[in-house]
Amino acid sequence: MPRLDDKVVLVSGGASGIGAATARLVVREGGKSVVADRDEEKGRALADELGASALFLPLDVTREAAWQKAIAVTAETFGGLHGLLNAAGIGTRTDIESCTLEDYRRVNDINALGTFLGCKTVIPAMKQSGGGSIVNISSVLGLRGASYALAYCASKGAVRLLTKHVALHCAQMKYNIRCNSVHPGYIDTPMVAPRLTQNVGNMSGRQWLEELHPLGRLGEAGEVANMILFLLSDEASFSTGSEFICDGGLTA
Ligand code: NAI
Repeated sequence: MPRLDDKVVLVSGGASGIGAATARLVVREGGKSVVADRDEEKGRALADELGASALFLPLDVTREAAWQKAIAVTAETFGGLHGLLNAAGIGTRTDIESCTLEDYRRVNDINALGTFLGCKTVIPAMKQSGGGSIVNISSVLGLRGASYALAYCASKGAVRLLTKHVALHCAQMKYNIRCNSVHPGYIDTPMVAPRLTQNVGNMSGRQWLEELHPLGRLGEAGEVANMILFLLSDEASFSTGSEFICDGGLTA
């Protein structure tokens, strides 16, 4: 039995990394994937590869009108909307003294405000479809701090608690909409790639990052996508407002 039989899932940040791995898995498990991203070239290429069960839509997650359009086109094309993965995100290395207002706003606009807009805009469409599942990607850096990641930690901490509010609100309103956050450790995606070649002391960046994880390696995008698949599916029917960690033991 496919695990997402005919479920329609919109993936923000679907053109790359964890979002792209999830879009692939959704189609493999019998669902429909809407790859929504500001990177049109990579997004279209992935949707073409996935065929009739996928669609690319241009989306800048910081723009409310763009969310409204993407969600309307999704429901019109596939006849409903049952899942949302908020994966669009950026990383930066900043501390409280060096972080500019512009940097702080840029990271928080994409990571936190973009997730807020996604959750807010999708709820009416999910209600019309009889319910659904929202998955927000936070990070291990939404659970604990890091001296080098001020704006990123602040944005991912916001995603963690925004998720709990959405879960509680939807439960109280009896919308049959669940909402959970996923907290990856360092995953080998284009976001992390620049850090792999930057030495830390006498270690390569890759080696330094690998040693942060008790399992001794970086995660793969597909390993996080497997956790997201569970949360999007009805197998997770009693999970809402929770934090799902996928970090090779980093926070243990
Ligand atoms: P990635 O860089 O491979 O993919 C991110 C995607 O988001 C890209 O396709 C990019 O075009 C898109 N994007 C960025 N800004 C956007 C905007 N304004 N509107 C629409 N799309 C936009 O990164 P990765 O690693 O797949 O990250 C996915 C999520 O996972 C992010 O939220 C990231 O913060 C989070 N995460 C990643 C970790 C990692 O180690 N790779 C660890 C913990 C969390």
